[in-house]
Amino acid sequence: MIIDDLKSENGHLMIGGVDSVELAKKYGTPLYVFDISQVRSQIRKFKSAFEKNNLKYQISYASKAFAVKAIYQVMKQEDVHIDVVSGGELYTALSAGFPSEKISFHGNNKSYDELLMAVKEHVGVIMLDNFHEIDLLSQILKQEKATTKVMLRLTPGISAHTHKYDQTGQTDSKFGFDVESGQADKAMKSVLDDENMELTGIHAHIGSQIFGTQGFVMLAKKMMEIAKKFQAEFNYWPKVINLGGGFGISYNEDDDPITADEFIGQIADELKKTNNEVPEIWIEPGRSIVGPAGYTLYTVGSRKDIPNLTSYLSVDGGMGDNIRPALYQAKYEAVIANKMDQPNEQTVHIAGKYCESGDILIDQQQLPKTKPGDILAMLDTGAYGYSMAMNYNRNPRPAVVFVEDGQDKLVVKRETYQDLTSLDLDY
Ligand code: LLP
Repeated sequence: MIIDDLKSENGHLMIGGVDSVELAKKYGTPLYVFDISQVRSQIRKFKSAFEKNNLKYQISYASKAFAVKAIYQVMKQEDVHIDVVSGGELYTALSAGFPSEKISFHGNNKSYDELLMAVKEHVGVIMLDNFHEIDLLSQILKQEKATTKVMLRLTPGISAHTHKYDQTGQTDSKFGFDVESGQADKAMKSVLDDENMELTGIHAHIGSQIFGTQGFVMLAKKMMEIAKKFQAEFNYWPKVINLGGGFGISYNEDDDPITADEFIGQIADELKKTNNEVPEIWIEPGRSIVGPAGYTLYTVGSRKDIPNLTSYLSVDGGMGDNIRPALYQAKYEAVIANKMDQPNEQTVHIAGKYCESGDILIDQQQLPKTKPGDILAMLDTGAYGYSMAMNYNRNPRPAVVFVEDGQDKLVVKRETYQDLTSLDLDY
């Protein structure tokens, strides 16, 4: 999100037609706010890019980016698929009324219980990641006298230029069947031999927060080569090629993300070079759907000015509601939501309230003059914020509010101190 594109009225930051300062008053801080029209518009951009290029497609929202009942309900309204990576995400989606046949179940170590749950709930497709899982699933399907659709997650040997923790497609990865060494062929054979598994296609995900189209075009090319090889070896042509997610967003001025039109156009050109039928193309965007739609509102508290050196401005949240700066050195931007009409006059570190020196939300942020009680809005926090939130220092997790068309709606309650001790037992 570019700060200049933000909307304000009477000096207050407006989100989805709602005054953010009023939201802070009404629900307290820290508070996650999602502009749901931005979520819908990003999904529609993906859809229209595929349609323009005449590709059969499916958008599968990678719900690890933000997994609460209300967002699954938005995905249901937008008629997209979702992917889940745990029994907990699957449970949340189903309890939100999300249709199980539109769910893909990912993960590199799904347990027996999780696979059994997926089979019993008839999830749309189970993404097989390793040999242990093929054995487990095979056993469950026999025992339950059930069948299921599966896809094979492959490690295609393509490395994305992004943070080390966000790379997954290179050969040395914990995810998927390695193509290079022949693991993928072996997995293919096992699955095709299992009468209870229907192999709908192949999947790969090369990483997250990726800029540029090159990695995705290389991936599309590689997946078509792999498909051709499988065709020659097993007389199998995939119905679906799933290219995963990872489309980068702009957290600050240095980030230059690709548009859906750009990368889908280039992938389409690559895919159409084949003489075979072009499979249905699935993508799994997480961050690009919910990231830019999310804002975190904090209240400014204490301040430490170190003479001739620097200043720390502390807010009432931090690494517990956004671990990304501490974990990945992720860079964000922020504004003072109640002073949108005032010029910047200082550069400060925005510090969290957690007992860690590393709990710095923003290293260098220009701001207008501030005082305790001001509302700081951190931008683009919709992905991997709430979903990675925790209770370090026994801080309750914030509430989540959705705004759309000038209306606000609480969709996740703020945790209370009682919630924090609700699982503790006496000794
Ligand atoms: N598909 C698969 C198989 C994935 O593993 C992921 C992300 C996605 C799709 C969605 O990627 P996205 O479009 O959101 O980039 N916590 C990290 C990101 C971890 C991503 C894990 N997998 C962060 O905050 O940067």
